Amino acid sequence: MILYDNFQVNSKGHLTIGGCDAVGLAEQYDTPLYVVDENQVRKNCRAYKNAVKKYFGENGGEVAFASKALSFKGIYRIIADEGLWTDIVSVGEMETVKAAGFPLEKTYFHGNNKTDYDIETGLKNNIGVFVVDNLEEIDALNRLCEKYGRTQKVLLRVAPGIDAHTHAKITTAKIDSKFGIAIGTGQAIEAVGYILKQKNLEFIGIHCHIGSQILEIQPFLDADIMITFALDIKNKYGYEISTVNFGGGFGIKYLPEQEEINIDFGIKTIAEYINKKCDDLKMKVPKIIFEPGRSIVANAGATLYTVGSNKKITGYKNYISVDGSMADNPRYALYGAPYTVVAANRMNDPCEITATIAGRCCEEGDFIQENVKLPDLKRGDILAVLITGAYNYSMASNYNRLPRPAMVFVKDGEGRIAVKRETYEDLMRNEI
Ligand code: LLP
Repeated sequence: MILYDNFQVNSKGHLTIGGCDAVGLAEQYDTPLYVVDENQVRKNCRAYKNAVKKYFGENGGEVAFASKALSFKGIYRIIADEGLWTDIVSVGEMETVKAAGFPLEKTYFHGNNKTDYDIETGLKNNIGVFVVDNLEEIDALNRLCEKYGRTQKVLLRVAPGIDAHTHAKITTAKIDSKFGIAIGTGQAIEAVGYILKQKNLEFIGIHCHIGSQILEIQPFLDADIMITFALDIKNKYGYEISTVNFGGGFGIKYLPEQEEINIDFGIKTIAEYINKKCDDLKMKVPKIIFEPGRSIVANAGATLYTVGSNKKITGYKNYISVDGSMADNPRYALYGAPYTVVAANRMNDPCEITATIAGRCCEEGDFIQENVKLPDLKRGDILAVLITGAYNYSMASNYNRLPRPAMVFVKDGEGRIAVKRETYEDLMRNEI
């Protein structure tokens, strides 16, 4: 087993993912290739659902999959099947949810700058809950609700002022964040009053997201400021909110030496803390929502590449170049994100070299990872980057006119195409 038990080594010394030989997948579907293990996605969904039910009660909470981590029709069908809600941030994600037949009334609509078009499309599609981010959006939503003669359920996104000890680009709860309205400055409580005055908005509660890839539990407990804020709302306006949404953020083990938050343990710890806090404040525990993205899909995924060159610069370093790049996985270039990288066809060979895994983009910083210990690979070997299920396909680009890779679902030793490989015609589809 490598990191998670969906990654194993078979008798041929090949990596297996969800019971499928990775070398066989590379041969059948070509590389670069995204592989997603359906059973692992389901297992992660169930871990959240069961824990929320167990520690917050039968109807005490809900889990919504954060689309931004991985958005395509096939994933929404699994999420729907597992009984989760989903969250979206754009009409593109909304249309994908809709095309997958996912119930839009079980959808949260996020975003710090929803245009009138976004809002109207959300209203026409009967989105369940809008998470409003700022005063301009409150005005626009109320006005457009008037036009369509309807009332919309809303949560207010607040910035609770928490430092979540993660990469600066993915921490989102500081007072000076671009997201939400700050509690600490007194502006959030004023915004609540403003929403309550709007005749077409039904204010159901508050939302925060403290950041992503968080490996400690403490920042989630610090989010209990949301409960204190709910009490402030009650005291100031005599209005009891029904829902508190804590966003996503449970981190994932990308390297063997990392420790992640076990889902059941994490939800239990948060639940005990929140339940006690409500008890102390003599408040009814609101309905608690979690919106995990990464921890639902990351460890279900891997990306397979074919090795091109193995360049040894005498006295300097080694570069192993692959047929993918920062276009299919921009996370190292953007965040210096760590990954476990293995030689999928040579799992039992000794790792005798240290190499930088370089992509094929015409850009010096196009690395998938640096300082990786590997066998001395040759052209045609298959490299696997593990734990790429989240924020890889969803952040992929066509930089250097590289078509996006295909994605296959694997399950119990069988593979099936979930997203076809882009063609060169696809790249030029909209060009006149
Ligand atoms: N809810 C909201 C409102 C969010 O903004 C996010 C992530 C989530 C839920 C899901 O968080 P998760 O459970 O996945 O940590 N591109 C970056 C991650 C950006 C996360 C943005 N928001 C990366 O590749 O690490």
